[in-house]
Amino acid sequence: MEIKTVGVIGAGQMGNGIAHVFALNGFDVTLNDVNKEQIDKALGTITRNMERQVRRGVVAEDAMDAAMKRIQTTMSVDDLKDCDIVIEAATENEEVKRDILKKLSEVLKDEAIIATNTSSISITRLAAATDRPSRFIGMHFMNPVPVMKLVELIRGLATDDPTFQLVKTMAQTVGKTVATSEDFPAFIVNRILLPMINEAIYTLYEGVGSVEAIDTAMKLGANHPMGPLELADFIGLDTCLSIMHVLYDGLADSKYRPCPLLVKYVEAGWLGRKAGRGFYDYSGDEPVPTR
Ligand SMILES: NC(=O)c1ccc[n+]([C@@H]2O[C@H](COP(=O)([O-])OP(=O)(O)OC[C@H]3O[C@@H](n4cnc5c(N)ncnc54)[C@H](O)[C@@H]3O)[C@@H](O)[C@H]2O)c1
Repeated sequence: MEIKTVGVIGAGQMGNGIAHVFALNGFDVTLNDVNKEQIDKALGTITRNMERQVRRGVVAEDAMDAAMKRIQTTMSVDDLKDCDIVIEAATENEEVKRDILKKLSEVLKDEAIIATNTSSISITRLAAATDRPSRFIGMHFMNPVPVMKLVELIRGLATDDPTFQLVKTMAQTVGKTVATSEDFPAFIVNRILLPMINEAIYTLYEGVGSVEAIDTAMKLGANHPMGPLELADFIGLDTCLSIMHVLYDGLADSKYRPCPLLVKYVEAGWLGRKAGRGFYDYSGDEPVPTR
């Protein structure tokens, strides 16, 4: 089977990046979201990000025009029925994802593959919500998708070899390097990264350091390109909290308990960059710590 058409469910931070990368690499993309505003925002973001690539000489202008023409949008899952692969990149919530996968299974052609970009939820469990566990796989892109080289591939218990090989080749075709993870909570990257971010939030919560001190310490002291709080805002605090819950529930170890301050920020709707406010306020020219 050859993959030519890619469906993307969820037009948020990740969905727009996934659509961007596949369209630039010659695939026809249909981007779906339940929220029209998110679709419009995604098209704006893709345009701006491709324009930046054109300015930098990474992408030719006619390649950008062709890529933009390859992207269609829809609010109906029915329009994904003829895709060769559908990548689910909706909100990190198991109920939301199970519901999407169930509806998608009813309309999608039998031979198509379904992948999920979940950061942490069991691939085997999500596979069970579909009609095709053998052609279901975890395809975990990193944010921002056009920039970050890694894709983690995660097989569920039933994922078959042809599916794994096809998706691996497809990831390489769009310029990504694959790392394979077993299906355990949060896989490799987030199993290691999120406890660090959560610990950074504890150091803020306990008054060990200010937002600025914590981020400066980790940037200059550990040579990280972004501080952990800046990174948490970038990922989205709702996504961070959801991953901590998956780790806590899935591994039953109290070391994964989400910091109460993270919970509070999410309850306040301070979800980070995408909401304009999190550990930093993004309303001005420069981000300013919110505490
Ligand atoms: N943010 C990151 O750094 C990152 C990195 C890798 C993977 N992920 C994963 O990618 C997924 C999306 O994360 P995000 O950061 O793009 O979130 P986001 O909040 O930016 O976007 C989620 C999108 O899903 C849409 N959505 C919700 N329910 C839907 C439905 N039923 N049908 C269609 N669309 C629906 C929302 O309207 C929203 O546009 C999550 O599973 C997350 O864990 C996130």
